[in-house]
Amino acid sequence: MSSTESCTGHWGQADLYEQILSELSALSKPLHSLTVEDLAPMDHFHARGFPATVELADKLPASSEQCLLDIGCGVGGPARYLAQRFACRVTGIDITESFVETGNRLTALVGLETQVQIELGDGQRLPYADDQFDGAYSQHVTMNVADRAAFFAEACRVLKPGGFFALTEHGLGDTGNPCYPVPWSLDGSGSYLIPIDETRALLEENGFEAIQIEQTGARYLSGYRAAVAKAEAGTLPSFGVHLLMGESAVEQMRNAGRNIEEGRTCPIQLICRKRR
Ligand SMILES: C[S@@+](CC[C@H](N)C(=O)[O-])C[C@H]1O[C@@H](n2cnc3c(N)ncnc32)[C@H](O)[C@@H]1O
Repeated sequence: MSSTESCTGHWGQADLYEQILSELSALSKPLHSLTVEDLAPMDHFHARGFPATVELADKLPASSEQCLLDIGCGVGGPARYLAQRFACRVTGIDITESFVETGNRLTALVGLETQVQIELGDGQRLPYADDQFDGAYSQHVTMNVADRAAFFAEACRVLKPGGFFALTEHGLGDTGNPCYPVPWSLDGSGSYLIPIDETRALLEENGFEAIQIEQTGARYLSGYRAAVAKAEAGTLPSFGVHLLMGESAVEQMRNAGRNIEEGRTCPIQLICRKRR
């Protein structure tokens, strides 16, 4: 199995859109007036969810009239939020077909089709022209990307000179040897974590500069602990990212926290720009 097949197999899910609608209906959310914020507990599929997207957005030099690219956009929560917040256009690309289909249907539900479009594709081979986008970002995707150099080179190629690139990921910590299952891999297959220094070096080698890296482990750890505590107390809201994570969701979150605590992983948020 190729790394691409193992990745789409890991994330893919049948009937996802119907499942989301059924959860929304259980919450008595009328679909005709659904907002980006109503979907936010479920569609920001990364550590700490929506608050982490808002914190990243606070730091982006994004503005209206821009065209942004969300690489590995999942079901599109961050793309819809940024499009609405900055009144810009966002193209999302994701390798998992069920996420692309669900993402476009959710975008239509909240009436953002003219600003957000989600397409099927691989971040290691982007189907876009050189110098096309004003900015790009990729949240919690690269843990599954085997050819990190190709992924960064492609992100750089499609950006205009000076365009920004933001990345969040779980890097490999000094202890190494992460415990599985985690949200991006049930048993270690398809998981390609690298240390922060290697990420920085690969970005520099592939055309980026002004790389600012922030370690986000402490914030993620408290987020995972809070989610696990709620799950154990039976108070985890039914509408949440665990809808996208399968049966071992709680164990995945517990391990994600443990990995950070024991220095097996080292999560980061990074912002840089394409060299002019
Ligand atoms: C944890 S989810 C994050 C989704 C989204 N970025 C978010 O924060 O809501 C990881 C996503 O990366 C996608 N992905 C993994 N490898 C990819 C690749 N090579 N190209 C495009 N998407 C990829 C998966 O299909 C999945 O949707």
